Amino acid sequence: MEVVIVPDAAAGGDIIAEAMAALLHRKPDALLGVATGSTPLPVYQALASRVRAGGVDVSRARVCQLDEYVGLPTGHPESYRSVVLREVVEPLGLSPEAFMGPDGAAEDVQAACDAYDAALAAAGGVDLQLLGIGTDGHIGFNEPCSSLASRTRIKTLTEQTRVDNARFFGGDIDAVPHHVITQGIGTILEARHLVLLATGEGKAEAVAATVEGPVAAVVPASALQLHPHATVIVDEAAATKL
Ligand code: GLP
Repeated sequence: MEVVIVPDAAAGGDIIAEAMAALLHRKPDALLGVATGSTPLPVYQALASRVRAGGVDVSRARVCQLDEYVGLPTGHPESYRSVVLREVVEPLGLSPEAFMGPDGAAEDVQAACDAYDAALAAAGGVDLQLLGIGTDGHIGFNEPCSSLASRTRIKTLTEQTRVDNARFFGGDIDAVPHHVITQGIGTILEARHLVLLATGEGKAEAVAATVEGPVAAVVPASALQLHPHATVIVDEAAATKL
């Protein structure tokens, strides 16, 4: 695992956008796994500005989702499908066909999870998966004690994660769904390159446990230690406990 400490979130965004641009140069139809939350936004902004400047050809690029809320109505602005379309697909000028995600409104949620896992494999697998990290060390929505071999499946959010994410729902924790679909840890580990970005002091403990702690299901992000090509990019605030 490679750990890179950068001065701030913008610098982290720049480095990762550069890595994505280099990947797309080598492999124009690369499948980029994108994450939601506020941390990755500088990455998408930096990549979009490179695209606008004509430095990156994204005409064949593909994007896939990491996780999704269950039960939000189709088109809800905080469904992760809506977020990825708004923050990634539209600013990059990709067509909606270049985008894959699990169906959080499906009647048979487990069938939707299995179908998404199979679709990722059929698409040739994820080339670069961008990850954020929860304050409890979760990746995607794999909460602590998720199996390190887990596949895409339905999960129940912890109270902590619902509190953390309430800010996207007008501060109303009751509006945050209890259930989610997430790529499993085993699924995530199949991506060719994992890039985790963490910024801010609130992530410092989770980062230290991820990088320096034992590999343990209680800290899902520690599974990155098992991956042959994992990069953890942290700003100085998130690095304070390393
Ligand atoms: C959610 C997402 C994660 C993300 C985490 C942290 O739980 N499912 O993928 O990493 O939030 O979000 P933020 O970057 O806003 O702190």
